[in-house]
Amino acid sequence: MEKARNIVIFGGNGDLAMRKLLPALYHLYAEDLLQEKSCIVGIARKVMTQDEYRHFTKQALQDFVEKDFYDEVKVRTFLEHVVYVQLDAYDKNAYEALNIVLNEKGDVNKGSVFYFATPPELFQIIGGHLNDMQLTNAVSRIVVEKPIGTDLQSSITINEQLAALFPENNIYRIDHYLGKTSVQNLLALRFANRLFEPLWSQDNIDSVQITCAELVGVEGRWDYYDNAGALRDMVQNHLLQLLCLVAMEPPAQFDVKSIRDEKIKVLRSLRPLVDMDVLTNTVRGQYRSGVVNDTVLPAYTSEAGQGKKSDTETFVAMRAYVDNWRWAGVPFYLRTGKRLTRRYSEIVIQFKPVSHAIFSQPLTANRLVIRLQPNQEIKLILMNKEPGLSSDTKLEPVPLNLSLLESFRTQRSPGAYERLLYDAIKGDGRLFMSRYEVEEAWRWIDNVLQGWEKMQMPVSYYHAGGMGPMQSDQLLSEDGRQWLNPNFDEI
Ligand code: BG6
Repeated sequence: MEKARNIVIFGGNGDLAMRKLLPALYHLYAEDLLQEKSCIVGIARKVMTQDEYRHFTKQALQDFVEKDFYDEVKVRTFLEHVVYVQLDAYDKNAYEALNIVLNEKGDVNKGSVFYFATPPELFQIIGGHLNDMQLTNAVSRIVVEKPIGTDLQSSITINEQLAALFPENNIYRIDHYLGKTSVQNLLALRFANRLFEPLWSQDNIDSVQITCAELVGVEGRWDYYDNAGALRDMVQNHLLQLLCLVAMEPPAQFDVKSIRDEKIKVLRSLRPLVDMDVLTNTVRGQYRSGVVNDTVLPAYTSEAGQGKKSDTETFVAMRAYVDNWRWAGVPFYLRTGKRLTRRYSEIVIQFKPVSHAIFSQPLTANRLVIRLQPNQEIKLILMNKEPGLSSDTKLEPVPLNLSLLESFRTQRSPGAYERLLYDAIKGDGRLFMSRYEVEEAWRWIDNVLQGWEKMQMPVSYYHAGGMGPMQSDQLLSEDGRQWLNPNFDEI
């Protein structure tokens, strides 16, 4: 089994490090997937002693590792691998401190994984100084995360800055949705089974729905979020990546290039939504206050203190088309929002009805549901006959259920960051995005953003705790369809 290199986190005391990266590294360590000598270097500008940073890390693990997997002994030995380097990213000479630590830790081949958990404005500065100080070479790995730009032009600028410093193959662009186990399972489902591929086209599929619903609001990120909005924050990346995995052609091989090439083709086939198109194909929503479980939740505009004004969207629903041979005429309905009824993400493939009815009762057309969270499962809804001797055949839609945890009897499935960090450590880029994917996604989103501005697309309001504004339901009812919400009591 391939073991790890040193992992250097710029933004080592930030939110991402605290909530995701340090807990993920702890899990890798606990599973014995980090090399005995590997060290985790947290980097930030703040003055902190080693003890203070280890205390910060321990607190992060206490808060964000599930209780059942928090093991005092393992935590203690894990913390021995954690080192803090105080450094101002702009100050080239300060990188000498990092150099000393990495040399001490035996980073002889300069193969560290550098995670830039910082605003993108710093990518060029940090990358440039790392190169100048010869802390990187052809085997180093650079991990970056969204926002990779706020539109096409800014994403090109960031990508070009990175390209001037590192070869594309060494850059790992994270979309954490691709690290979710069910997402990888979608590829297995499509390309390791004979059953689905012949049905996977406009011949048999009526429509596709992709929902990423969140219960939380903006969680103290108002300043970032108010400039971004749900379209940039969720659709440009997570939802379009999921759409790509559903719509892509089978790659010739399961390798980085083949997968990325197929995803890019999908993004290029997305029908542009230009000007007036946004009025009929998109919905922008924002939450007002609402009551959930007897608790009054504040409106979006109150989350940053009273009296704020904003027409930023916290909800988006849209109808998209992939204009190619396979998907001609099949609508892809995308929906995401904050402060919705439940946290869940799901892809629903709605098949067409049977071509000829021989039973007297109405039938429910087959449906394949791939749930990413909170639980990971795949369900195929089939029509079945109710047991019994009655001469009337009574049919019921029944789910054929594949729960990943139950089927594989695993205690836990690895979190998205765990999977992706481990892949970056191993040098496996299949679940990461190329610069061209990011840029193609922005190209499509840019049209929508420009259309919204040009058409002065209003926001429609919804109550916190609901499933978005009524315009979102209308988007589908105009097509004679409806959102296929799960049974919320079950999730
Ligand atoms: C992030 C967004 O990319 O994804 C957040 O910036 C959002 O606003 C989060 O809350 C959702 O991720 P998950 O894994 O909780 O669905």
